Amino acid sequence: MKKIGVLTSGGDSPGMNAAIRAVVRKAIYHGIEICGVKYGFSGLVNNEIHQMTIGDVGDIIHRGGTMLYTARCEEFKTADGRNASLAHLEQHGIEGLVVIGGDGSFRGAERLAALHFPVVGVPSTIDNDIPGTDYTIGFDTALNTVIQAIDKIRDTATSHERTYVVEVMGRKAGDIALWSGLADGAETIILPEEPYNMEEVIERLQRGYKRGKKHSIIVVAEGVGSGVELAQTIEKAVQLETRVTVLGHIQRGGSPSAFDRVLASRLGAGAVELLINGESGKMLGVQHNTIVHKAIADGLIEQRPFNKDMYQLSQELSI
Ligand code: F6P
Repeated sequence: MKKIGVLTSGGDSPGMNAAIRAVVRKAIYHGIEICGVKYGFSGLVNNEIHQMTIGDVGDIIHRGGTMLYTARCEEFKTADGRNASLAHLEQHGIEGLVVIGGDGSFRGAERLAALHFPVVGVPSTIDNDIPGTDYTIGFDTALNTVIQAIDKIRDTATSHERTYVVEVMGRKAGDIALWSGLADGAETIILPEEPYNMEEVIERLQRGYKRGKKHSIIVVAEGVGSGVELAQTIEKAVQLETRVTVLGHIQRGGSPSAFDRVLASRLGAGAVELLINGESGKMLGVQHNTIVHKAIADGLIEQRPFNKDMYQLSQELSI
């Protein structure tokens, strides 16, 4: 393999830059040329492909976002879009591609692999929802952002004796809600993987109130429904002054944590190694602190197991 490409796609996540740096440096270390593709798959379709040097990735390991920019691309889902992409890859002499992103990006990667173009996926999304890896790049940083926010909310919730609903990201996956709720001692955690019962939520609040607890934190994942509506229902049912904070895209930004930088460095370098070894259609992951890989196609049909024990623990500790 003489030349490879790298792109970031889908929602950005802290640590993407560290992963790009690892791919670029690892390739150059092995004497392989490297091209950056801007704007994800859209950059493949539109030929936004540029040679990268060691210096291009200097001073980015600590930065959030992605220096290659990102996008969600409809055109790549069409045969014309994919054919144009293959032609552009060939034009630049690129023989393998590293795709850094979440499940949507892996679907794109799998489409390229099906056309016999060597491609490897690096899981990077704050949602931590990719089967085959214990952690995705960006989850740890996002979690810490949420925790810092909830700590601050708790201060004002205590001072005013209010109930707070905090809506966090996660359309189909509740890891951000579960981990932040557990780490912050939330009274209730509501997430897509576990059905919730409004009466039980209210009963918990009332029980706490009777015990003298005058403030509460409820963490809700966006996929379950609107935090604002939830707060209105609670306020009506229990007559406790309730406020809502929707954390939104703040969760996607910021300097990556040490954990995410190290994970991104290991996975980015691992992706180049896989391409050198002639692998394609594979995704990397970390399991029990070991870098592993599996077929992207398998990962796409699997359901990521939900950590029920952790959910149960959160319930037990917030009685
Ligand atoms: O990247 C994942 C994610 O942040 C989800 O948690 C969230 O639902 C979604 O992306 C938001 O996407 P957008 O950037 O299109 O608003």
